Amino acid sequence: MIIALDGPAASGKSTTARLVAQRLGFRYLDTGAMYRALALAAQQRGMTDEAFASVLPSVRLDLGYDADGNQTVALDGEDVTAAIRTRDMGLAASAISRHAPVREYLVQMQQELGRRYSEEAGGAVLDGRDIGTVVFPQAELKVFVIADARTRAERRLAELEVRGEVYPDREAALDALEAELVARDHADAARAAGPLRAAPDAILLDTTELSPEEQVEIVVQHALARQ
Ligand code: CDP
Repeated sequence: MIIALDGPAASGKSTTARLVAQRLGFRYLDTGAMYRALALAAQQRGMTDEAFASVLPSVRLDLGYDADGNQTVALDGEDVTAAIRTRDMGLAASAISRHAPVREYLVQMQQELGRRYSEEAGGAVLDGRDIGTVVFPQAELKVFVIADARTRAERRLAELEVRGEVYPDREAALDALEAELVARDHADAARAAGPLRAAPDAILLDTTELSPEEQVEIVVQHALARQ
């Protein structure tokens, strides 16, 4: 079984995907982390996104899980799980993900991983922007996860603070983050290749007023109803 979770930045997709996978005994794949890792690889090589697209097969991208079931990412053998979580890497990922060769490369990898995870564990939960529309248009369950922009900014700020970033003026930080997330969503929705878009048969899940447990329960119930 394939479960596709798509939606705008910081809407709660990754948390939901990880916990839904845990509940159902499935495996999960955070596809945004893959775009973030390639953005970092391009930066490390000092290459433009265009030039980088032609050396894609030389990049070694290894995905795994830590003891808590969080996805880990290694680039050319080096663990970059934390390094790809910065705001800059979110913006760089959005920029590199506009390029069709980059998308084709990762989409194929995601399809292979999704199929393999599904065979090995009985199901795979993928989160991203184009999972239900491009990567797995035949997914048994598609969910489009949204939340209002301020709530998303608050959640992202909390994540950044947990990672050690310090924001003395929280209100100013929230304003800046909100503007950044909204601008990234617009760019993601406006691009020609794999735009951020709900599949016509996706269920809309607004997490603004929901706890992670409530979000997870809703998706799990839909999944069980389709098994
Ligand atoms: O965690 P957050 O929602 O901020 O972003 P992410 O899921 O890590 O994705 C970072 C960027 O990668 C997005 O802004 C998208 O431009 C891109 N992305 C994509 O194009 N397609 C996907 N399937 C996943 C992410």
